[in-house]
Amino acid sequence: MSYIIGFCCNECAYAAADLAGSTHRKHPANVLVVRIPCSGTFDPSWLVYALARGADAAFVAGCRKGECHYVDGNLKAEKRVDFVKELLEAVGVEPERVEMFFMASSEPHKFLAAAEEMARRVERLGPLPRDRRLERIRMGKKRNLVEALRAITKKVEDVTLPAIPGFKVPVFDESCIGCGACAEACEQGALRITDSNGFRTILVSAARCNACGDCVKICEENGERALKLGGLRVTQLLAEWSEGIRIPLVRCEVCGSYFATEGELRKAGSPRVCLSCREISAARAISFGRVRA
Ligand code: FES
Repeated sequence: MSYIIGFCCNECAYAAADLAGSTHRKHPANVLVVRIPCSGTFDPSWLVYALARGADAAFVAGCRKGECHYVDGNLKAEKRVDFVKELLEAVGVEPERVEMFFMASSEPHKFLAAAEEMARRVERLGPLPRDRRLERIRMGKKRNLVEALRAITKKVEDVTLPAIPGFKVPVFDESCIGCGACAEACEQGALRITDSNGFRTILVSAARCNACGDCVKICEENGERALKLGGLRVTQLLAEWSEGIRIPLVRCEVCGSYFATEGELRKAGSPRVCLSCREISAARAISFGRVRA
């Protein structure tokens, strides 16, 4: 049997569901209610995870707009549901499988209408094909989301997702000199720097990034403004590592090996000679000096 998960805020939506039950009104039997403190506490990964683990639809129900007991939790939840809808659409899953509803505790009919609406949608859309290999939750919200998405992905369209807190990644500007300070500052290990084939590449792991902004801060402290948070793309979310920026490296004028970026040399006012060649020439100078002495 297909089933539907409803994440209901304790203050209004759950109370409305409770009132519907205590006044003996029937709602579709396949709607399972999960009580949460406020709809603002719901994380986008919950909806996707519910779909990946067997639900054919999932919804969030909160207080009426302007009446959230924690100020604006329901408005935040609405943005997160919109985020999940765009995400599902981009991975080939019908976005109607998730929805946000608003209701007061005295409106059991609204809860019933929401449950019936989702049941109708599931009837129309049919069961969601999924990969049953998804068995456990990985640590970290974004990683949950990635795991769950991989289980239900049919096709991927690479769109940039709406920016919501926690679901952003570092976006590099052309002015980046590739100093790597951002990678060093990232405690999540979400940035990696590699030099190969004449290029320095900064790789980003969207699943590891928690959008703390440490990379942006260190970039600004170093006198640069080459980094901002935002622009999370669907393929980036699904990939283990994606390319943040690729910068050409400069060859050493003595040994010919690639060693630094143009921007690094400009900033340091250094000659186009690598460190080991400079050390060798300094050692030679000292040793000639000693011979003469
Ligand atoms: Fe109900 Fe926040 S308390 S949505």
